Amino acid sequence: MREASPYIRAHRDEVFVVYVAGDALNEPGMLGLIQDLILLRGLGVKLIIVHGARAQIDEKAKESDVRQAFIGDLRVTDEPTLACVKAAVAAVRLELEARLVQCALDAPRRGSALTVAGGTFITARPAGIVGGVDLHFTGEVRHIDRNAIERRLACDELVLVSPLAYSPTGEVFNLNSLDLACAVACELGASKLILMMDPPGIVDNDGNVMRHLTVGDASEFGTADPVVTRYLECALRACRFGVGRVHLVDRSIEGVLIDELYTRDGIGTLISNTPFDQIRQATIEDVGGILALIGPLERDGSLVKRSREKLEIEIEHFSVVVREGVVVACGALYPLESKFGEIACIAVHSDYRGAGFGKLVLDTLERRATEAGVRRLFVLTTKALHWFLENNYARAEMSDLPIERQAMYNFQRNAIVLSKRL
Ligand SMILES: CC(C)(COP(=O)(O)OP(=O)(O)OC[C@H]1O[C@@H](n2cnc3c(N)ncnc32)[C@H](O)[C@@H]1OP(=O)(O)O)[C@@H](O)C(=O)NCCC(=O)NCCS
Repeated sequence: MREASPYIRAHRDEVFVVYVAGDALNEPGMLGLIQDLILLRGLGVKLIIVHGARAQIDEKAKESDVRQAFIGDLRVTDEPTLACVKAAVAAVRLELEARLVQCALDAPRRGSALTVAGGTFITARPAGIVGGVDLHFTGEVRHIDRNAIERRLACDELVLVSPLAYSPTGEVFNLNSLDLACAVACELGASKLILMMDPPGIVDNDGNVMRHLTVGDASEFGTADPVVTRYLECALRACRFGVGRVHLVDRSIEGVLIDELYTRDGIGTLISNTPFDQIRQATIEDVGGILALIGPLERDGSLVKRSREKLEIEIEHFSVVVREGVVVACGALYPLESKFGEIACIAVHSDYRGAGFGKLVLDTLERRATEAGVRRLFVLTTKALHWFLENNYARAEMSDLPIERQAMYNFQRNAIVLSKRL
């Protein structure tokens, strides 16, 4: 709960679009997934679910003996196929609505009935002729009625979007559900698009899930798996068109949505426009995060005790590394007289040591010092002597410190003085 609470706050009232493929409905983990979606809504997330129905359409076409053809990833939707699509999509939608309502009633917030909203939110146009083949009633998104969707969300309703849409000429079109999810997320400016994948996410050559990719990294990522490629293309398009973050998660993992969205490191692959770990100058809003980070280190004597008031006054000297809104590393640069400076309060959260965060903070503070015209840096440490030595600091004497700083030296702490010329 402690780890989750910043995320509960951060995600409240944010719009998330979750994509669930049709075949997920037939999997044993479906009920757990629906329960987690209800939980997300209970935690204040404005939820839009976009569902697919490919497996159910295939089944229906087989039952009805309707031959299926594909051009790349797109189904050729002739009249007999459109009949199968309508039947399958309607069945999936009804099934999903039933499960959502059931889970909402079973959830702890009893009494707060769930309304699942649908509607004529999407306008379509024909996909046309591709490679000489007429795709008939296969369509593309032409327009999304953002206001109508937002009105439903504002009424605390869950919006369920199905992959069928109407053209102004009154025809019904079969849409690719993954493209539809992407388009809805972009149009709504969703803060997250979550793709519940069948493959186990984006994995490296050793089979490990790649936790975070920037758009640049993801564009260069090569995979032979056409399904993963489709998900990646969709994620990249969403990021480029303004969706804050795209999460690709393995839907077969029980509780994957909660692990992904309410823990610091997540469990799937996050793709975003910005580097995951940002180092920046601290602001007054970071005071709480810095205090939480340095508290244990003050108690074990690694760092000098600072009160909240002192930290608030000195906050402009601090730089912080923030992961998913949580301060995981910090450090400060204090100007001293005569072009001297002091590095202080470098701290890295114990879960993140040895990953280069300390060095990132130190480099940043040194750059800030150089920019400010500082010629020589000092640091006083009780527990990180070797770390500073390895980062090119050399032992110095107390008498090397500027006089004013010498007067403030705490003999009880008996810290070692180190220095580095810039
Ligand atoms: C010192 C500290 C900031 C280093 O942060 P970090 O992100 O783990 O460091 P980096 O990833 O940049 O460097 C890791 C390397 O430094 C070494 N290292 C980390 N802390 C060390 C220490 N106290 N003494 C000696 N070496 C240390 C690691 O063993 C690792 O080396 P290796 O890869 O050869 O094993 C972090 O350990 C910390 O917060 N310590 C407690 C607070 C403190 O003492 N701060 C300094 C007061 S000014």
